[in-house]
Amino acid sequence: MGLCYIRAMTGAKDIPSNAMERIFVALDTPDLARAARLTRALRGAVGGIKVGKELFTAQGPDGVRAVSGGERLFLDLKFHDIPNTVAGAVRAAVHLRPFILTLHAAGGRAMMQAAREAAEDAETQPPRLIAITLLTSLDEGDLEALGQRGPVREQVKRLATLARDSGLDGAVCSPHEIEALRALCGPDFTLVVPGIRPVWAATGDQKRVMAPAEALAAGADYLVIGRPITGQADPLAAARKIAEEIAAAPGGMS
Ligand code: C5P
Repeated sequence: MGLCYIRAMTGAKDIPSNAMERIFVALDTPDLARAARLTRALRGAVGGIKVGKELFTAQGPDGVRAVSGGERLFLDLKFHDIPNTVAGAVRAAVHLRPFILTLHAAGGRAMMQAAREAAEDAETQPPRLIAITLLTSLDEGDLEALGQRGPVREQVKRLATLARDSGLDGAVCSPHEIEALRALCGPDFTLVVPGIRPVWAATGDQKRVMAPAEALAAGADYLVIGRPITGQADPLAAARKIAEEIAAAPGGMS
């Protein structure tokens, strides 16, 4: 039995009990100085930073190192390629010591297993490998055009199950998929949830949002929050307000 299955069966989930530590702030900017400024300003007020393709492509691994410092890093590079190439990309990515690394479940079982094995081979603490199921930008019409079986909700569940059975640690999901995926994939499957909006923040282009405390109560493990923090004149105050609102919610956390 490979390491990947042992890890999946023993459940590597270790979720912080503190609300603040469960928030990753999305640094959706190609600008190194702005990313570094936000990271410095938010140190200690969020659990980590999410770096995606925009910043990574503009600034490369050295830019990511310069920004992240000692912060927990969610490296959202959404790998999707043949197994050998994804394994190589995972081996390269672990040098940045990500806490979370994403890949597309649509890459298939062999790709996800190769990623798992590459992550476990690293000499550092392996990242949590988190699956992207179906991009929320796709609808039923897109699925049909792609020749994929719908409806969207069923395809999300199919891909999340495949990710779990291929040894991945969890999935990114919309707030409205939390309960279904938790029931389907079990308590040890890590659910990472964007589309989060405190009631006082603009929804922007996010269509199906949920407040932070509500998403955690529904079973989210980590929240991804971008503009409600980074788009405010005082990002630190916004992050603190979100953590306070979570603590003040019924059954709230510290
Ligand atoms: O600014 P906002 O809070 O909407 O940012 C959410 C972050 O989560 C962005 O980095 C976005 O790319 C990401 N994301 C998302 N919806 C998904 C997957 C990722 O909003 N389904």
